[in-house]
Amino acid sequence: MNMLSALLSVAALSQLVAASPTPPKFGCPTQDDVLQLSPWQSQLYVPPGEKPSAIVLGLGVQNYTCSSETGLYVSAGARAALYDISCQYGSPTFATIVEDAFVQFDDENFNLDSPPTSGLVGSYYFTTTESGISPEWDFSCYSGFAAFVIGSEVGRIPAPTGSPNDIDWVEWTNIDGGLARTMFQVETKGGQPPAYCPAGSPDISVKYAAQYWLF
Ligand SMILES: *[C@@H]1O[C@H](CO)[C@@H](O)[C@H](O)[C@H]1NC(C)=O
Repeated sequence: MNMLSALLSVAALSQLVAASPTPPKFGCPTQDDVLQLSPWQSQLYVPPGEKPSAIVLGLGVQNYTCSSETGLYVSAGARAALYDISCQYGSPTFATIVEDAFVQFDDENFNLDSPPTSGLVGSYYFTTTESGISPEWDFSCYSGFAAFVIGSEVGRIPAPTGSPNDIDWVEWTNIDGGLARTMFQVETKGGQPPAYCPAGSPDISVKYAAQYWLF
């Protein structure tokens, strides 16, 4: 077993997914888990009364195209495999799970077309909507029913790590699907493009890891 699989193997329990109505319950109960958000910001907040229904680890890439006008990389969506980490919540490994997974995954030849399956519960990708492209969390391949949600951004803050390598923390609200009402990308690691691109640079994909909390 490679290290990434070992890290995620606790989450394999979650593959005992019972047939349940949306939102699906993977792994361990999450309704009492608390998403830690800094009180020194007002961009990200959990709407009153909403409870977490899933906590997943995303391992994947952020895509960028080079704008020849500005010489800057522009976000062009992302793609990630989603692993259930609800059972690690409250354990000592939870605090560093994103960082640990990111290091493993940076070392390994992680193939998004056939990611490790232990604890895998869904996919994160971008889909075309009226407003351009929007993020989608899709659990349908693993749950056997149409469990997905498409989001529209409502808030964003720079990663509190202060590292220029880590992508922003983001909140989205549901614009389609029954999987969740509110989605968060937090505890981000990696994913930022180089500061500048020479005109004509090809598209790039930058590895990242993050927690996604679905409410
Ligand atoms: C991002 O790039 C990966 C390959 O690196 C590709 O599989 C994926 O479809 C791309 N996603 C988007 C939204 O462009």
